[in-house]
Amino acid sequence: MTKLWMCTALVLTFVSLGQAQTAAATPPMGWNSWNHFACKVTAADIRAAADAIASNGMKQAGYTYVNIDDCWQGKRDAQGNIRANQRFGDMKALADYVHSKGLKIGIYSSPGPKTCAGYEGSYRHEEQDAKQYAAWGFDYLKYDWCSAEKVYQPSQMPEVYKKMHDALAATDRPIVFSLCQYGLDRVWRWGGSVGGNLWRTTDDISDHYDRMALIGFGQNGLERFAGPGHWNDPDMLEIGNGGMKHDEYITHMSLWSILAAPLLAGNDLSKMSAADLAILTNKEVIAVDQDAKGVQGRRVAQEGPLEVWAKPLADGSYAVGLFNRGESANPVTLQLKGIGISGSAHVRDLWAHRDLGSFSGSYTATVPKHGAVMLKVR
Ligand code: GLA
Repeated sequence: MTKLWMCTALVLTFVSLGQAQTAAATPPMGWNSWNHFACKVTAADIRAAADAIASNGMKQAGYTYVNIDDCWQGKRDAQGNIRANQRFGDMKALADYVHSKGLKIGIYSSPGPKTCAGYEGSYRHEEQDAKQYAAWGFDYLKYDWCSAEKVYQPSQMPEVYKKMHDALAATDRPIVFSLCQYGLDRVWRWGGSVGGNLWRTTDDISDHYDRMALIGFGQNGLERFAGPGHWNDPDMLEIGNGGMKHDEYITHMSLWSILAAPLLAGNDLSKMSAADLAILTNKEVIAVDQDAKGVQGRRVAQEGPLEVWAKPLADGSYAVGLFNRGESANPVTLQLKGIGISGSAHVRDLWAHRDLGSFSGSYTATVPKHGAVMLKVR
């Protein structure tokens, strides 16, 4: 009897460790309502996003999570159960709809009494809310610090996040846990240990090249904190929202993929241009982001506004980004020895989908203003 019990316990331990390792084994991909819809979001917008992902090629490209951000909450009922507001209505029906498309669904709350937009938070209702999300069928929670600063000390952040992690884990439904506290207290050092699958490393992105570039290029140095199941999150994508030029969105997608960042589109998927869809669904670029080795890339060379970034891939090759942050087109050179290749290497252009041939010593491309060239080098 004791042996049987020990065996069962061992098997259960291995099963649960296995599950822990597979949650967000590669950076989560999907869509989030905030960057485009902000507080105007409705259940109809969520359904339309799911419809678009399921039919426009995004699902096949790997986009899975359809995430509701802030502003879905209504009041709590007499028992303290959180209810959706009238723009959302029946959350179980909404989750069922998204699941019926072969996709997963995410929700949003705050450890504070109020969310950043002033809606009901989870303060003192953590377990009740976790159970409710699981009962509705949610697969992902973004947990945003916001008004928690009014009720907790900054030093309590790890325990506050762990509390919700434990409440989610107790539901028996696998729920990806996304920490959002803007990189405070160097969250990359402890985000994984409190159960975070991803954690925001910065304040909010906006749909402007300067802001996107400041955040994206500023991630250098954080690479050692990322890996399968626990990712640095430089915030959601702005591709398709209209505030940047085509080359700037190419930089956004290239850089986020080299960073092994979560790829959460943030535009109106029901009204997107073919060019923006092509950026979001470039399978060769996405394969860099989703590479099984799970290594976040880093800067390997810089000369003024010209930067070379590289990410080692599972097959022994490298993804390389040649970036031009300058105000006019410029040649950017990859020195092969900078990524440990002596002699020659085969180079493929991942945006042009073209093999460029073999090069010895270095490879140079002209990169447009604010643009990027993305290569696979082996
Ligand atoms: C914060 C977060 C954003 C978004 C808003 C919603 O600013 O960083 O990503 O969730 O709150 O109010």
